[in-house]
Order: sequence, then C-alpha cells, then structure tokens
Amino acid sequence: MDIQQPLSLLGGLTAAQFMRRHWQKKPLLVRQALPQWSAPLSRAEVFALAAREEVESRLVQQVEGTWRMRQGPFARRALPALQQADWTLLVQGVDLHDERAHALLQQFRFVPEARLDDLMISYASNGGGVGPHFDSYDVFLLQAHGRRRWRIGRQKDLSLRDDVPLKVLAQFEPEEEYVLEPGDMLYLPPRYAHDGIAEGECMTYSIGFRAPARAELAQELLTRLSEEADAEDRPVLYRDATQAAVAQPGAIPEGLQAFARDALQRALAEPLALERALGEYLTEPKSNVWFDAEAAAVMLEGVALDRRSRMMYDAHHVFINGESYRAAGRDATLMRRLADQRWLDHRDLARASDDALALLSSWCDAGWAHSRPRTEADA
Ligand code: SIN
Ligand code: CO
Repeated sequence: MDIQQPLSLLGGLTAAQFMRRHWQKKPLLVRQALPQWSAPLSRAEVFALAAREEVESRLVQQVEGTWRMRQGPFARRALPALQQADWTLLVQGVDLHDERAHALLQQFRFVPEARLDDLMISYASNGGGVGPHFDSYDVFLLQAHGRRRWRIGRQKDLSLRDDVPLKVLAQFEPEEEYVLEPGDMLYLPPRYAHDGIAEGECMTYSIGFRAPARAELAQELLTRLSEEADAEDRPVLYRDATQAAVAQPGAIPEGLQAFARDALQRALAEPLALERALGEYLTEPKSNVWFDAEAAAVMLEGVALDRRSRMMYDAHHVFINGESYRAAGRDATLMRRLADQRWLDHRDLARASDDALALLSSWCDAGWAHSRPRTEADA
C-alpha cells in the first residue's frame, strides 16, 4: 500500500497523515469513505452467521430504560421481529468466515497486522444500540446500511453503570453528534465515549484492533520462554552444598532467590527467544479457527494465504499461525512479501528455493494457503 497516497477512505488524508494526526489521538469523521459502496453482506447473511456455532454473536435489547444481553448462536426464530424496535445483533470476527468481509479489512492494513483484530457487523432495528460506552481499542465505525446517529465525547469520567449486563457509562456527556449514511465512517481512538442509535433499520461494520496488555503479554511470553527452557536435555537443579544449618527454617534462602532471577534472565538472554515467542503468540489463530486441510495442492501459478491465516515477520523469522521459521536471503524476501501482500505470483514462485517451495506446499496441505490461478495482472 502506498502510505503517501491520499485516500478517500481517510477523507483525503494519506495513511501516513492519518496515523500522525488521528491514530490513538482524535476522532475523524469521513463522509463517503467508500463512495457508491454497497455493503457486501445482506441482513439474511448476517443472521445466518449468527446462527452458526463457531461464530461469536450477541443480542442486545433495550427494555424499559435498561439493557438485556444474550450470547449466540441464534436460530433465526430466536431473534426478535424486524418490526420490534430497540434491538441489536452483533456478529464478531466476520472476516474469518466471509471472503468479502476479509477483503474489506485489508484496506486497513496501513496499520500493522499485529494490531488488526477483526470485522464486527451489527444489525439494529429502529432505535437499537448498545448504550453509551467506551472501547479499550481503536475502532473505525463504517455505516453499511441505513442511518445511525452517533454522539461522541472526550469525557474523563468513565465509570460504568453496575445494574446492566454490558458496559454502559453511568454519566454520558456527548459533545458532538453526527448522522452516518451508508459509506460514511467514524474513527474513534481508545476510551472515547460514544453512543450510536439506529434511525430505522441499520447495519454498521466495526473495524476493530487489538493491543496486548502488558501484564498479560508478560505472562504469555514467560510461559512460552519457560516451555523452551524446559526442553533442556537435563534439568538444571538448584544446588546448595554451602547451605548452613538454619534456626529459622521459614526464611527463603537468598541463594534460591538468586537462582530464580538467574533462571528468568537466562530465558530472556537466549538469543531471539523473546522475538520468537512474541511472533508465535501474535500469529496464534483464535480458538474458534480451524483450517480445512487440502489434498496435495499444486501451486505452479501462485499462492494466496487463507483468510484465516495470520502471517508476520521480524528481522530473523517468519511466523504463521503460531509457528516460527528462520529465514534469510532470497527466501526471507519472498516470505515477507507473502506476509505483506498475502499472495505470491508465478514469478515469485519461480525464484523460490526448493525448501521454500516445500514449505509453501505444506502450508497449502494444511489449508493455511491455497494455490492461486494466474490472473490477468500476473501476466
Ligand atoms: C454497534 O455497531 O452497534 C456498536 C459498535 C460500537 O459502538 O463499538
Ligand atoms: Co463501541
């Protein structure tokens, strides 16, 4: 993607300008971010997704000034009537299940893949909404069908009501108000208060991001590092040949504290272990994702990643779906290109080493990638 090119998606800003001026800082309203766009998924298709076991969905209903929430899946008949006001169906991770939703998400890859989360679709009947709230992550709210009135505010008081089953602000102080029409989009940074109410039936697509929480990341990485250290041939045990007799047996020996600190320092000092653990963690598929293995795919013409595959790289590795590979030279360049653009053409494959081809073909067998027919653009 050319990050210096003005984009209608960002109201004429380049991706570079948007990231500098707005990302994690301040909202951006874009009228006709996607001009003449017609939303790819119909209401019936959204309802069909919500009926599937492996798709995460929620139903939110306002009843007499309060909210009710249920988790899916929802058979069609379990949803309220379309004429009934004040309900919303939210379907998470649509990009994992629908190629068109996945393609839409790709337009936002001016943000690193490591930060991109998913595409959520909400369907609301007239008056529907999830109440005034804030999200912990950045979001682009793209109006897909019908109209929604958004009220937003910078408020500091983020205390929540404790009498409802979802996160609803106790005191909402909106400062601005916009009615979004199909193709319009609103970007909000994390913790920006907002409330969107459907004016008539409407659908909104939320392009969502993720950001690791420090404590959770530390826990995850330490577990992975310790698993790697555990693979040592012979466990290194704490030894204390110089331990003196103690009159206070409850006290933890200082030597044992030093041993513990040394154990962690060694795990961290292991060359590239942290980088490897991070890449594997970031590319780990979500728990509701599985791949359809394919019988011996032939990929003479090109290869494309499956929409569910997460692929990233660092200076020494490529990562895909929780696995890491060391890569250098021409193969590394090739694998990085695959991670960045998510496909390779026949010219790329012609330059690949036998090892790289074998790897790509094993990924095709696993359903992580698919052979891609030659297109006009490849000629
Ligand atoms: C919605 O689409 O109804 C809610 C999205 C949001 O406010 O984050
Ligand atoms: Co929100």
